[in-house]
Amino acid sequence: MTHSDLALDTGARLPRLNEPAPAFEAVTTHGTIRLADYEGSWLILFSHPADFTPVCTTEFAAFADIAPQLRERGAELLGLSIDSVYSHLAWVRNIEEKLGVEISFPVIADLDRKVATAYGMVMPGESSTETSRCVFFIDPKSVLRAMIYYPLSLGRNMSEILRVIDALQTADRHGVATPANWKPGDKVIVPAPKTQEGMAQRMKEGLECVDWYLCKKSLDVEPAAKGAKETRWPASTTAAR
Ligand code: BEZ
Repeated sequence: MTHSDLALDTGARLPRLNEPAPAFEAVTTHGTIRLADYEGSWLILFSHPADFTPVCTTEFAAFADIAPQLRERGAELLGLSIDSVYSHLAWVRNIEEKLGVEISFPVIADLDRKVATAYGMVMPGESSTETSRCVFFIDPKSVLRAMIYYPLSLGRNMSEILRVIDALQTADRHGVATPANWKPGDKVIVPAPKTQEGMAQRMKEGLECVDWYLCKKSLDVEPAAKGAKETRWPASTTAAR
């Protein structure tokens, strides 16, 4: 496949951060589900290449394992592939029988690829018949806040899924950012001042500063809980919604 073939092939643009997540209504293993059904809670929409494949099976069991931890954070899981709902049902049952893991979250049967196309989940350079391993973090107002794309060969890391939710919720709740390798309990980054006066003041605020533009502070609270008051980082530059 040439580069121009690839450009023509997808027909879809990738979704963009901090914009409304593409709306959908889809057939799932739990009946018909719409994006709007998740308003008020976080949604982790993830795709897998195909049912009854080895890496995907390990991932499904791993997603099921963290589902209770996500629910504590006000986040729900929703899987997707281009397989039929009968295939999903048989696979979910097989995972429960063989691995002893209950798959409590719904799985979209995206046979017509409508959801996969809207979210840019098919990467023709990898496969034109399967969705890649994509993860979309959608906030309680249905805004797309983070996304991760993995190749077919690479099983996802559940610690990172939890870390991303914790970081997004912490940023919203406290109006801060999170540094490299941040995990809950670590210090967070305070927004850099935008004026000379703010810059002079910053160094007197008792924060842990490398310099005026890189200051950290501790948060004395656990990761954000469902329903916590939300502000956005940095509040003045995020799109109005
Ligand atoms: C797997 O889940 O093992 C898999 C699926 C599609 C392509 C490669 C691996």
